[in-house]
Amino acid sequence: MLTVKPLNDVVGAEISGLDLRETVSPEVCQTLNDLFAEHAVLVFRDQPLTPTQFMHAAEIFGDLMDQQIKKFVLPGFPLVGVNSTRDLPRKNGKLQVRGENYHTDHSNSLRPPKATSLLAVQIPSYGGDTQFVDVRRAWADLPADLKDEIAALRSRHVHESSRSPRAFAKLSPEEMALIPNVEQPLVIRHPVSGVPALYLNTGRMEGIEGMEPDAAYALIDRLYTHATHPRYEYRHRWAVGDFVIWDNRSVMHQANADYDPEEFRYLYRVMLKGDALQPAFELEAQR
Ligand SMILES: [Fe+2]
Repeated sequence: MLTVKPLNDVVGAEISGLDLRETVSPEVCQTLNDLFAEHAVLVFRDQPLTPTQFMHAAEIFGDLMDQQIKKFVLPGFPLVGVNSTRDLPRKNGKLQVRGENYHTDHSNSLRPPKATSLLAVQIPSYGGDTQFVDVRRAWADLPADLKDEIAALRSRHVHESSRSPRAFAKLSPEEMALIPNVEQPLVIRHPVSGVPALYLNTGRMEGIEGMEPDAAYALIDRLYTHATHPRYEYRHRWAVGDFVIWDNRSVMHQANADYDPEEFRYLYRVMLKGDALQPAFELEAQR
């Protein structure tokens, strides 16, 4: 019996009553996809999955895509990435964690992954939470005049913005060649629910089309500060066996490096193929 419990009043739901090692029926699959479009973050506890079972569970929600950074791939499983403390460089004794500011994955891809999923294999005794903010609510809460102003804007997304607040993994020339720079709408429309959402990634946004750089970055900062307010947040505290999947078009997420670097933290990661992003509004802004 499937049970759905909202994670808080903002975003996300915990699903129980399902063993993800088992194949789900087409009806349950549809139900889960409907819940995913609505809640944007789904949490399934106590799912001790093998890499193969993890892939099958994620495939309930779509098709797996290649991992962009080949050096963080699980040996023998090219579609499964690993997020391991043993792979992380240190600076002044602190781990340099990937994803340590709010972002949406691979926003500089022509077809960014629609979803990302993590499975917790080993978790430190404290810290290392993943935070999510609902960018649909953040859009909905903007004042009407600001909505009108930004509804049809577009931003160039690159591998690493000249004003990025964080450093990205260095890619090989071959990997870089596969990554185009792409214009993305500032406000996207969800392909399933039709709900508009802000589409922000300060690490990758290289200005806004038709705006002077300083004005563009000031606007990006303003929207980012608004969208990352705790009122839009669900903070996931990991336990071993947690299967979490999120919709990159409805939430941003961030990692935290606040755990003991001597402790081992290890998660599997997969991503699901997405389509080109659709603008929520055409040039004549209409809400
Ligand atoms: Fe990420």
